[in-house]
Formats: sequence, structure tokens, C-alpha cells
Amino acid sequence: MAPVSETISIGVDGTTLPTSEIMTGRAFLTGKSGSGKSNSASVIAEELLERGLPLLIVDTDGEYLGLKERYDLHHVGKSDEADTDIDEADPAKLAELGLEKNVPIILDISGVLDADVGADMARRVIEQLFQTGNRVRKPFLVIVEEIHEFLPESGKRGDISETLLRVAKRGRKRGIGLLGISQRPAAVDKDFITQCDWIVWHRLTWDNDTRVVSRMIGTDYADAVQELDTGEAFLMADWDDSIRRVRFRRKRTKDIGATPGLERFDAGELGGSSAAAVQESVTKEPEAAADAEEDEREPIELTAEPVEEDEDDEMPRWEPWPGHDQIEPETPAPPPDRERESYDPITEVGHFMGFVVHRLFGSVRAAGRGISRSVPDTSTDRPDDRQEPLSVEFVPEPESPRRALALLIFLGIVAIFIAWLMMA
Ligand SMILES: Nc1ncnc2c1ncn2[C@@H]1O[C@H](COP(=O)(O)OP(=O)(O)OP(=O)(O)O)[C@@H](O)[C@H]1O
Ligand SMILES: [Mg+2]
Repeated sequence: MAPVSETISIGVDGTTLPTSEIMTGRAFLTGKSGSGKSNSASVIAEELLERGLPLLIVDTDGEYLGLKERYDLHHVGKSDEADTDIDEADPAKLAELGLEKNVPIILDISGVLDADVGADMARRVIEQLFQTGNRVRKPFLVIVEEIHEFLPESGKRGDISETLLRVAKRGRKRGIGLLGISQRPAAVDKDFITQCDWIVWHRLTWDNDTRVVSRMIGTDYADAVQELDTGEAFLMADWDDSIRRVRFRRKRTKDIGATPGLERFDAGELGGSSAAAVQESVTKEPEAAADAEEDEREPIELTAEPVEEDEDDEMPRWEPWPGHDQIEPETPAPPPDRERESYDPITEVGHFMGFVVHRLFGSVRAAGRGISRSVPDTSTDRPDDRQEPLSVEFVPEPESPRRALALLIFLGIVAIFIAWLMMA
């Protein structure tokens, strides 16, 4: 293994790139299909792996497995050659494996039938790297193929878009670098491209794409980029004063992208035996596997994160909504007094007379049955929600006998009055 040098050599012409910036910076590598992007990314990966530097490759086409021929990578995927089945992988343990044990990882999502499942796994691993990076703080490069699928210029940003943008904006302080690859610069979120410290422009011919070149580095390059040979590129980098025309070397390891479907290989051919040995340590615990569905519903942002002094800290934090403290607590309305609200003097006199009649004539049965009346439901203003009128039993009140006595006196007075009239 070569010592970690300040630069890595990537070109046939002796072109070098600064190791530290490659590991921790953000980069965009673009060019039309067949222009040499994956080869160039593989060359960078080979140089870093040669120096024992850790990385994660989110491989959408299974074309980085050739690296296993020469280097010891942990391969997470859905094929027989995978060291860990992607459905069994624990994102937190993978992040730990990569960052703390320096084991490079290929997350091969090409065999995952549901693209959303593959994207979600990539998101969770990268999110964990971001979280763990806050504590571990050492250089770690994340390479993402077909980044327009995760960071689209138009259309809805998914959870992985937010994660990638967060890494792009805040990963440097944690040592997490990001290298995104795409055939279509026009289709990639410009929030990402404009964050990049270095950009590799391979051959591009579509107008929409060359317009991006024109905007970023000028019309001359937009014309020239259409004429580049395979493997050739314009390199725009913060550490260079001017744009360089470079020619990447061919990768040393197996070129799987060149022969799709014809030369699948077995695990033995690619080595990686010690990577397979760590398989146990990155699979989910049985109970964790059982709770996998629940885990997926838990937003990772809820995980406690050590507080750091971060100028450009843009993590959204929960805050009380404005004006929340000016709202007076709602006082519950008193329950409606149905007896009182339904009070009607005439009805009351009727009841009273009925009671007196029952009492006077000894109708015990009628008094026992009671006298009922209907009480409308006034508990809601919405007529549709009202219940049928309630039937409330009339219970003779303790003072009723006194009322009966009063009535007798009254009747007596009336009788005396009538008698007086007759005598007069
Ligand atoms: N630097 C190079 N020198 C010589 N040949 C190269 C170089 N880069 C790529 N090639 C050739 O071009 C082919 C396509 O390269 P590569 O797979 O990297 O293209 P790509 O841009 O990733 O395409 P796609 O977008 O379809 O994935 C390779 O299989 C290889 O034969
Ligand atoms: Mg490719």
C-alpha cells in the first residue's frame, strides 16, 4: 500500500489531484454516455484505495464491482456476490464500518427492483455517515452515480436530495466529501453543482447540457466540450487558477461497464475475502430486522446530534409557530342546563295542576309513572349534529304538597267568593 501522498495521479499526461480536497470536497463529474465518467471515477477510487483511504460508492449499475478484483471492499447488494444482502444491511453499522474501521464500501443498488428502496438505503447510509462524521471527523469520500436521480433539477426533491444537499453544504467540516456523477448536467439540481469545489466536464453534446457548461465556464468551453475524446475532460477546480484539459488513464481493474451482461464473475475472482468476513457486523440485529418497517417511519433527523459551532448550520430546527403565546386558552363552555332552558311557566302550571289532580284523586299509578316532557338538544349549534329530543321524567318535588294545600285554599276562597255572589 502506497503512503498517503498529497496528490493522486489520474492522467496519462501526469495530471494529479490533491488528495485531501478529493476526499473532503464536493465534486461533479459529468459527460454524455460513453464519454468516460465511470472510468474516471474508478481511476480516482483506485488511487484512493491504493492509499487505504475509505469511501462509499453508491453504484446504480453494478459497474464498480471490478474494484474488488484488486481492493478489499465490502460489497452490499442484491446479488450472490454481495458480502451483505442489502435488505439485511444496517445503515448505522455500515457507516461505522466505513468511518471507524476504514473499510471501503460499495452499495450496489442495481439489483434492487424498487428504485425507491435502493434510494432510501443510500439515504440512510449517507445520513449515518453524516451523523457519525460529526463525532469521528476524518476524510471519507461518498461517490454517487446517476446523481440526477437523487438530486433532480426539476420535479420533487426526495429525502435523499435533502441528505445529499446537507452533505454538500455541511459535509466538509465533518470530513465527508461528495462526488456526484451524471450524464446530464442540465438535469441536476443547480444548488448542488454550484456548491462544487471541482468539476470534471467530459464530452457533452446536447444543447441544454452545453448551456450549463457555457454558464459555468464560458462559451468557448461549451463549444470545445463537444469535441472531447473519450477519457478527456475539462477540469475546473478551486485549487487551480485556470481550467485544465486533462486525459484520464484507463482504470486498472476490471471494466464491467464495457461488457454488460457478458462477463459476470464470481466472488472468488474478485477477492474481497476479508470484506466478506465483516459481513456479520453490518447486518441488522434480529429484533432490528423485525422492527425495520417502524425504523423507516422514524425520521433520522430526530436522532440527537452533538451541538457544534457551525457558521453555516442550516439544519431546520423546531420552533414554536409565531403568535402561539398570544392565544388565550380556550375556556370550555358550561354544559347546557336543559332543565332551566326548557322552563316554561304554562307547562309548569300544567304539570302542577296535573300533579294536584293526581294527588287529590289518589291516582298513585299515574303519579308513579310520572309526567315526561321533551327537552331539545342544545349542546351544539349544528342542526345536523343534534340528537333526538331527550325525554326527561318529571319527578314530584318535595314542595308539591304545599302547592296542593295552596290550591285547596285557593279553591276554598273561590268557593266562598261564589257563595257570596249567590247570596248577594
Ligand atoms: N480514459 C479512458 N481511456 C480509454 N478508454 C476509455 C477511457 N474512459 C473510458 N474509456 C472507454 O469508454 C468506455 C465507456 O466508458 P465509461 O463506462 O466510463 O463511460 P460513461 O461515461 O460512464 O458512460 P455511461 O454514462 O453510459 O455510464 C469504457 O468501457 C472504455 O472502453
Ligand atoms: Mg458510467
